[in-house]
Amino acid sequence: MSLPQSHPAVHQHKGLSCPVSGKLHEYCPPQAGDSRSACPALNTMANHGYIARDGKNISAFDLIRGLKACYGLSTPLAVFLSVVGFIILKKVRNISLFEIGKHNAIEHDASLVHHDTPQGQEYAPIDIDQTLVGRLIADAKTGREQGEGPEAGDTRILMDATDVARARVRREKECRPIDSVHAEIARGEMGIILGVWETKTHDNVGIPVEWMRRWIGSERLPDGWKPDHVQGLLDVVKRSKAIRTAMDEMKKNEAIANGDEKAKL
Ligand code: HEM
Repeated sequence: MSLPQSHPAVHQHKGLSCPVSGKLHEYCPPQAGDSRSACPALNTMANHGYIARDGKNISAFDLIRGLKACYGLSTPLAVFLSVVGFIILKKVRNISLFEIGKHNAIEHDASLVHHDTPQGQEYAPIDIDQTLVGRLIADAKTGREQGEGPEAGDTRILMDATDVARARVRREKECRPIDSVHAEIARGEMGIILGVWETKTHDNVGIPVEWMRRWIGSERLPDGWKPDHVQGLLDVVKRSKAIRTAMDEMKKNEAIANGDEKAKL
C-alpha cells in the first residue's frame, strides 16, 4: 500500500537536520528506528533538532548545548541536569534517549502522563497516555469558572505551582509509592518548565495550558516560541519548593477533612 500524497515521506534522521522539512528546528516526529525517552523535554529537543533527531549517540555536552539553545537554561542549570543525569545513569559514553528511562535511576513511578514501569522491566514505558494528559490539563482548570478553558476556545488558562501540586498529589495516590528523592525529581521536572514558560496576564501567573498540552502530549514546542530569558537553577529550586508546599497543604487539608485531628497540629 502506498502512502497518501499528503503524508510526510518516511525518512531517516541524521544529526540535527531533517531531510524532509529541511529547516533547522522545524518539528518532525520520530521516524522508525529513532530513540525516544520518558522525558518530554528531551524528546521535544530531538523532534526539533536541538539534539540528534534520531535520539542516538548523545553526549552530556550535546544535552548541555541543546538545553541552553532550546529552553534558554543557564549554563549551571544545563550542566547540573546533564552531568548529574549521566552520573545517576552511571554512563560515561554517549547514550540513546531510551536509556535515560532506566527505572528508578532518574526515572520514577507516579509520572504525570506515563504509566508505572511494569514489574520486572528495566526501562520505563515511553508511550504517552492522552487520558492522563487530559487529567493534567483539567487539574489546571480546577477552581476556574465553568465554561472557561481550552474546550471553550480559551487559551488564557495558566498552569501554576498549585495546579502542578494538585496533579502530583493525584498521581502519587493513583500509583506505586515513590521515595523522597524521586518525589523531589518529579517536582523539579515541572519546576523547570514553569520557569521557562512563565507568562503573566493581568490577574494570573503561570504557563499556558495549551503549551503544556502540546509539549507533554505531543512533544512539540509552541509555534514560533523562542526563550525570552535565561532560566536559572535557583529559580527552579524556588518553584520546586512552591510545588512541595502546595502539596503538603493539600494533603493536610484532605487529612483534616477525613477527620484526622493530628493533621491540624
Ligand atoms: C529543560 C529541561 C527539562 C525539563 C523541563 C524536563 C521535564 C520533565 C518532565 C515534566 C517530566 C515528567 C513527565 C511525566 O511525568 O510523565 C520529565 C521526565 C523525565 N526526565 Fe526530564 N526534563 C528536563 C531535562 C531532563 C534531563 C537533562 C534529563 C536527563 C539527563 C531528564 C530525564 C528525565 C527522565 C528520566 C524522566 C522520566 C521521569 C518519570 O518517570 O516521570 N530530563 N522531564
